[in-house]
Formats: sequence, structure tokens, C-alpha cells
Amino acid sequence: MTYVSKPVHILCQDLFKIYKVADLEVVALRGLDFNVDQGEVVAIVGASGSGKSTLLNILAGYDTPSAGGVSVGGTDLLRMTSKEIEHYRQSQVGFVWQQTSRNLFPYLSTIDNVSLPMMLTNLPAEERRTRATDLLRLVGLEHRMAHTPEKLSGGEQQRVAIAIALANHPPLLLADEPTGELDDATAAEILDLFGVANQELGTTVLIVTHDPDIAYKVGRVVMIRDGKMSTEIRRKITFTRVSGHADSEQELDEYVLVDGSGRVQIPRELLDQLKITGRARAQIENGKVTLTPDG
Ligand SMILES: Nc1ncnc2c1ncn2[C@@H]1O[C@H](COP(=O)(O)OP(=O)(O)OP(=O)(O)O)[C@@H](O)[C@H]1O
Ligand SMILES: [Mg+2]
Repeated sequence: MTYVSKPVHILCQDLFKIYKVADLEVVALRGLDFNVDQGEVVAIVGASGSGKSTLLNILAGYDTPSAGGVSVGGTDLLRMTSKEIEHYRQSQVGFVWQQTSRNLFPYLSTIDNVSLPMMLTNLPAEERRTRATDLLRLVGLEHRMAHTPEKLSGGEQQRVAIAIALANHPPLLLADEPTGELDDATAAEILDLFGVANQELGTTVLIVTHDPDIAYKVGRVVMIRDGKMSTEIRRKITFTRVSGHADSEQELDEYVLVDGSGRVQIPRELLDQLKITGRARAQIENGKVTLTPDG
């Protein structure tokens, strides 16, 4: 199946991240390739420790990779001065964390929380307020403007967090398990909201999630394993809308990903089934690549 491609928004090439803890090195990303088009919504899934947050933190400009290339919106993140990185974080990317408390200032009202990121721009006060009101309307919270976070439910706090993340109209929204602390119904509403941001503002959205049904809710899901992208699930029918409710009628296509060096990760279940360890024969048969256990 072919997909009509749009301009690339995120481009990661052979990305490595190595954390040094005392004498130990932890390889969090190992040669990760990943592309996201402008205006696309992509979910990232993967086991704990597979590198999801590490990738998001790099894309948000909070961390730098140890090797490889990463560009967002045509800007090479590795060539920015600290001042440029600061500007990038303010204007090019919004971030929503899992912990609702991490997204909001506890002593500020909802409208002040949403207005705060705009203080760093030269937008006049009146316009800041108008834009904050518009964003609160977009997330369905215009009736909670004067409330402080403690008076809001977890779902409402995440709605505010999305409004804050969108305050400076960033073209990219990153969310690290934004629904992890919410019940299913509220989580569905929050996912719907990412869809609204995508549709109404054209925002590219990247969401890390553990939701087992996510493939039925967004157009593309990428699985990260051991710091590399391994498989990808797409809908058979190209689809742009995001829905918090699983549309299980949809037919899905699952692919293994082939990186720039020709590497693939064969799903562990397949290797176990065929008892392939360490070495296998690769052949082309009838236009297909086959792997056969050695011996
Ligand atoms: N600041 C750090 N210092 C040292 N090691 C780190 C640091 N941050 C992450 N790691 C390690 O890097 C690897 C990837 O971590 P990461 O937080 O990206 O995983 P994750 O996929 O987000 O997991 P989870 O689902 O638990 O949030 C893990 O082995 C983790 O222990
Ligand atoms: Mg994480």
C-alpha cells in the first residue's frame, strides 16, 4: 500500500543515547530511525525502559543524543546554541507529562496557568488573555477559568495541561503517557482532545502510551524495542482523525521496520517459534525474504 506523504516534521537518523551512571553505561537509544510527517498523529508504544521518554526528551530539547542526527521542522537540534534551544522549547514544541501535577502551577488559576508560557513572548496582556480563553474553550474548560488545579479533576487538569502546551501555538505536541493516571472514559476524552488540536490547529502529535487499543484510535503506531523502532501498525484505509474510542472494525497492517542500514528487528515470538538464535539463512523466494534456522 502507498501513502501520500506530507513534508517531514521529525527526522531522527541513527540516534544513540548513552547515559553514564558511575562506571556503568546505559544505552537508552541504539541507532533509532524515525520520521513523522507534518500534521501526523503517531503513538509510540514499548516496554518500560525501551527508550520512549528518552526520545521525547530529545525531541523536546530537554536532552541531547550521544550520536546520530535529529531535526524538527527543518531545524537541526544538535546545531543550536543554548539560546536557540530555549526559543525552540518555547515556540516549537508543547509537552504534556503523565503526572498531572507536573504540568500545572498549583497556586495559579487555570487561565493564569495557560497564560504563563505566553509571558515569555512579547504578546500584549490582553491578547494573552484572549488566546488563553480560546484555548480553554478548545479543551472544554471555559467554565473553570478561575479555578486552581486542586479544584479540578485529573482529567480536567490534563485538559489544562494540553491548553498550556498549546499556548504558544507550537507546531508539535509531545505527550509522555498523558492518560496514564486517568480512568478509561476520561482517557478517551483526552485522546479525543489531541485529535481536536490536530484537526483544528494542524498540530503534529506524538503520544507515548500503554493503551493496548491505541492502534484502533490513531492512524499509526510505532513500537520501540531496546532503543530502536521495531514494528509499525497502520490502518489499511488511510485515516487522519483521532478518536478516544477504539474503532475495532478497522483493518490494520503490521510492518517490520527496515532502518537506513538495512537492519530489522524480527519479533521475538517469531524467532522463538522457529528457534532462531544468533544465526539464520536469509534467502529470496518468490519475491519474499525468508529466514530459515541454521542446521
Ligand atoms: N537520566 C538517566 N540516567 C541514567 N539512565 C537513564 C536516565 N534516563 C533513562 N535512563 C535509562 O535509559 C533507559 C530508557 O529509559 P526511558 O525512561 O527512556 O524508558 P521508557 O521507555 O520511557 O520507560 P517507562 O515506560 O518506564 O517510562 C532505561 O534503561 C533507563 O533506566
Ligand atoms: Mg517513560
